[in-house]
Amino acid sequence: MRENVLLIGGGGREHAIARALEDSECDLYACAGNRNPGIARIATDFETLEETDPEAVVDYAAEVEATIAVVGPEAPLDAGVADALEEAGVYAFGPRQEQARIETDKAFQRRFMSENDIPGCPDYETFDDVEAACEFIDEYDGDLAIKPAGLTGGKGVKVIGDQVTPEEGKEYIRESDYERIVLEERLIGEELTIQAFVANGEIRTAPAVQDHKRAYEGDEGPNTGGMGSYSDATRELPFMSEEDYEAAVEILEATVDALEGYKGILYGQFMLTAEGPKVIEFNARFGDPEAMNTLPVLETDFLDVLTAARDGEDLPDLEFADQATVCKYAVPEGYPTDPEAGAKVQVDEESAGDALLYYASVDERDDGIYTTTSRSFAVVGIANTLDEAEEIAEDALAVAGDEGLHMRHDIGKADLVQQRIDHMAELRGD
Ligand code: AMP
Ligand code: GLY
Repeated sequence: MRENVLLIGGGGREHAIARALEDSECDLYACAGNRNPGIARIATDFETLEETDPEAVVDYAAEVEATIAVVGPEAPLDAGVADALEEAGVYAFGPRQEQARIETDKAFQRRFMSENDIPGCPDYETFDDVEAACEFIDEYDGDLAIKPAGLTGGKGVKVIGDQVTPEEGKEYIRESDYERIVLEERLIGEELTIQAFVANGEIRTAPAVQDHKRAYEGDEGPNTGGMGSYSDATRELPFMSEEDYEAAVEILEATVDALEGYKGILYGQFMLTAEGPKVIEFNARFGDPEAMNTLPVLETDFLDVLTAARDGEDLPDLEFADQATVCKYAVPEGYPTDPEAGAKVQVDEESAGDALLYYASVDERDDGIYTTTSRSFAVVGIANTLDEAEEIAEDALAVAGDEGLHMRHDIGKADLVQQRIDHMAELRGD
């Protein structure tokens, strides 16, 4: 049977999901709040709708006779879109609202880890009283990460000793009106992401990826949704060992065991510390940008994963090409604090050369594609080595130019990768 796959979401991650299904035995339908021109070109139909409105999504799923849905972003999961689809008889690859709390409620996430003895949980406390949280900061021996419990698009966390002083941290808590705050031990190490495909109690993991959250080169500036990312030709990243990878996968496995009936992607963001991997957070979906590193090198048909998940079968073993990938986002100038929209995008899927181009939040007008106030587009180089992949990505950025755009040219460059290796060696006392 030819499947009708409904894709929900209109970012770079969803463009990567659309491409992964482009040559599969399915017709792709897409819906999102923004019309993503890359997805629109691949899909049989693209509907612009409120993607956090379960009823609107279910109506569209019925109209296109969807047989499977893939929920890309976290906001629809948090809004119960997967639940609504399932109640309407459409299998959703994405967790139900309750299980998506592993991402959408950081206080729940930490409690869940400690109650289920999942390894890799940092010391933490949760607070719903501002002054109690400030007092804890005063009394705690060491630096803390301040995390609002709810979704903030990766931009709500402030790390004492890194981005802010204890005084600034307290001021941040007092000035923002977050209902609940998690304070946790500041972890020192190198960050990495491992995404797991999960269904029917089974888990299949992808190669590790390193994202770059900070807006400016050299890891300076405010946190963003992610400025770019790389993965190596092996499952590991250059600064980690096979044992580190296995230890992180064990954490993901323990989490899936405890989260009975979870389905979709479980994204583990880890800090590789001198004591091994610790969990920074879980997400209930692919990473953006990390999906753009992972899906282009996935050689197994993603549709086979989706149908096996739906049909209660064993998930296929996943094959990934032994290739390195480097993804770089172009974002509007001033992003994320003061983004300036309206620059014309000068690169397209043809002129990107050997790189893959993924659209994110752009606006397609009669005379071209323009930036909005969120991340605009990403280019991805894929090659045998990181150096070659990085060059391919840079060549595409050169075509794009930098009029009205900002990008981090340092991502995936040998210098920065070497700094990561040296940092880990120093922490481990090698
Ligand atoms: P999150 O929104 O949880 O992904 O956090 C955003 C960023 O804050 C992460 O990518 C880390 O760089 C940093 N961060 C979060 N939690 C911690 C922690 N416990 N220790 C150190 N850095 C952290
Ligand atoms: N790249 C970080 C995220 O998707 O949350």
